Amino acid sequence: MRLMTTSHLYILTGASRGMGLSMARQLIVPGHTLLCISRSESPALSQHAQQAGAALVQWCHDLADSRTLGPRLESWLHEQGSTSWRSATLINNAGVISHIGPLSQADPDDLAQALRVGLEAPMLLTSAFLRATESWTATRKVLNISSGLGRKPMASQAAYCAAKSGMDHFSRCVALEEALKTGGAKICSLAPGVIDTEMQLHLRSADSEAFPDRDSFERLKTSGQLTSPDEAARRVLACLARPDFGAQPVADVRD
Ligand SMILES: NC(=O)c1ccc[n+]([C@@H]2O[C@H](COP(=O)([O-])OP(=O)(O)OC[C@H]3O[C@@H](n4cnc5c(N)ncnc54)[C@H](OP(=O)(O)O)[C@@H]3O)[C@@H](O)[C@H]2O)c1
Repeated sequence: MRLMTTSHLYILTGASRGMGLSMARQLIVPGHTLLCISRSESPALSQHAQQAGAALVQWCHDLADSRTLGPRLESWLHEQGSTSWRSATLINNAGVISHIGPLSQADPDDLAQALRVGLEAPMLLTSAFLRATESWTATRKVLNISSGLGRKPMASQAAYCAAKSGMDHFSRCVALEEALKTGGAKICSLAPGVIDTEMQLHLRSADSEAFPDRDSFERLKTSGQLTSPDEAARRVLACLARPDFGAQPVADVRD
């Protein structure tokens, strides 16, 4: 389906809750077209888009099965046409903390799922996005939502840390590749700070015996240091809007 001509195109993963839902709400404004990808659809988002007069498409897709998603995204982007857009942006926001415990105790399926969602899917989507929009004159950006844990090791978080670290490093590589092209895309792997979402609840609910840092996450909550999802989304989208977005391929909203 060809969407009505608007100016700014966004593709956002993990828009069903947490910071992704807040980003989606903030991106739903007239003149924007937003494609959201999560395992579940949000009826509230659809209603919000209808009221705002913005174009919203929601795909229910498990990012652990991203091989079919890359080609689907590519053909959808081709359908949108190359001339309708002033900008096109991919935001790889979805992330997952699965098993909290030492790698030696990890379930193989759980481990593979965490790496597929956290690293494989963002790479495949970035590849599909860059290929499909290569000839577009629109400003093109890729925003990868990373984490401080991509840069700081933590026991019982090997899969999450590895996925985010991989995300940082593939972003550095892609930045070098795109810099060689005329009109190449800008890319940044951005740590969003600590946010009051289900992901933090999951960390606080872990067994302290298996997770030495559990209490530090508890303290972040009790001392009021968690950012609200709406505020975190505002900060992240402000970084995306900066004229020097991508000058640093790895960054932190707190810098
Ligand atoms: N919260 C923090 O303190 C914090 C700190 C640093 C970095 N981050 C990063 O910020 C991003 C957003 O985090 P958050 O706290 O908002 O997370 P969250 O509340 O747990 O939400 C995660 C989102 O990812 C989607 N998702 C998870 N597994 C998926 C799968 N297999 N397929 C498709 N979608 C999937 C979820 O949608 P469905 O379940 O509907 O599929 C949901 O929309 C993540 O990349 C996270 O690593 C968060």
